[in-house]
Amino acid sequence: MRETIVAGNWKMNLNSLSIMDFIKDFPHLVEDITEVKNIIFPSSVYLYLFKEQNTILYGGQNVHFEEKGAFTAEISPGMLRDMGCKYVIIGHSERRHIFGENNDLLNKKLISVLNNNLNPIYCIGETLEERKSNKAFEVLKKQLVEGLKDIENIEKLIIAYEPVWAIGTGETATPEIAQEAHKFIRTTLNEMQSNRGENITVLYGGSVKPQNAKSLIKMQDIDGFLVGGASLVPETFAQITRIIRED
Ligand code: 13P
Repeated sequence: MRETIVAGNWKMNLNSLSIMDFIKDFPHLVEDITEVKNIIFPSSVYLYLFKEQNTILYGGQNVHFEEKGAFTAEISPGMLRDMGCKYVIIGHSERRHIFGENNDLLNKKLISVLNNNLNPIYCIGETLEERKSNKAFEVLKKQLVEGLKDIENIEKLIIAYEPVWAIGTGETATPEIAQEAHKFIRTTLNEMQSNRGENITVLYGGSVKPQNAKSLIKMQDIDGFLVGGASLVPETFAQITRIIRED
């Protein structure tokens, strides 16, 4: 079933004090909204702060595919579950481009977290160069085909389309550009997964703000957002959630 999700990827931001404030303030701002699911992805060192509360859904920003062993600084799916996470981001463009994660590695991570009953948000998206040279759909298809290789248990899978050129740049994809990519993603998922793509939630990410959320959510294949910068402030994040509800 497709859900309406507004998730916040906090990346390497905030500290324990500001996170405690967020946890205290945010639930009140959205307590009347039941039809949109909010999920927060804090830095892993602060996951314990979320474990101490039970109103905000949360998850890890990254994961290793092995369950345990000599992998210094890595975090296993079981550790995320132990910290109360139900979700995990896999393949964010910053992981792909800054830390060199490729589709084969991300496939291993996806298989591992799905087997561990976590809900992955698998991020895909093209760079500006790839878009300019008309390779956007080719790249998206490759990320889907290679990343989801041999995966059949897709009930918990969520996809986030995050064009790299729109992340943290203030330059959002127009609703039409985003819808075209989302439609392509859904069609590809339908082809790969015997029409089950219709049931997969596909989020948009890249400079989402209260000012552009409404026009984006109106698009047929955009089911919600993965928000970076605008998720750091409770009021702004709540505003985006509210705008979606009012659609
Ligand atoms: P911004 O909303 O800051 O552009 O970040 C998007 C993103 O990368 C979410 O994962």
